Amino acid sequence: MRQKIVAGNWKMNNTNSESKLLLKKLLSYKFPPDVRVIVSPPYTQLSLISNKLKNLKIEVASQNMHYASNGAFTGEISASMLKSSGVFTTILGHSERRLYFNETNKSLNEKVKKAVNENIEIIFCIGEELDDRKSGNHFEYVKLQLEKTVFLQPIESWKKIIIAYEPIWAIGTGETASPDQVQEMHSYIRNIISENYNESLAESTCIIYGGSVKPSNAKNIFSQPDVDGGLIGGASLKSEDFAAIVKATKCQSYTA
Ligand code: PGA
Repeated sequence: MRQKIVAGNWKMNNTNSESKLLLKKLLSYKFPPDVRVIVSPPYTQLSLISNKLKNLKIEVASQNMHYASNGAFTGEISASMLKSSGVFTTILGHSERRLYFNETNKSLNEKVKKAVNENIEIIFCIGEELDDRKSGNHFEYVKLQLEKTVFLQPIESWKKIIIAYEPIWAIGTGETASPDQVQEMHSYIRNIISENYNESLAESTCIIYGGSVKPSNAKNIFSQPDVDGGLIGGASLKSEDFAAIVKATKCQSYTA
């Protein structure tokens, strides 16, 4: 059985006191014990949040990481800096990083290699633009994103890789992919993991969905057989919505 994961990507939101309050509210919920709950605050709050979460059930992840160990990379953060802030998981390849900060499959491959070498777990984001979906190119698009990055890693590295399928047209737009569209893509991703490695790895890899997940649609998406949870943006900033989404992972197995 794959583990369910719900990660909140806080993006560039919340001052320190707002994040502390959000965390306090989240910690007051009783989440299902077998769901991994992760929050991903901005860099400046990683130490603060990871200190508050020591020995507690909620985990912390960063939103990005640089591929170099250290050096003249103004504004960037290294793997060892993350680890020394108590952070052992990072999101990589978010579409906003690709779009606004020119991250490419090539640079992301370097980041993936570095994270794996540093024993940092990766939530690796992939997903197509609306035009690719409309022209029926979405499977090829996603496949290429994987082939140029995580598929270049040896099988052992996959212990530390979670895939997040996030169709760009559904991020922050209020437009969600339908449960059938999500299932179709997740099952495709699982199949190509199997082709590139083996079936057992494909079966054990967690593939989560992101893109306008809300309390009202989470259950239908999470009940799809190949969906192992979600990466949540906007709705992760409201404790009651995020808590409802975490709880929506506890649904009956999918019956068509
Ligand atoms: P959203 O963001 O839930 O606001 O659409 C998801 C994400 O960017 O990870």
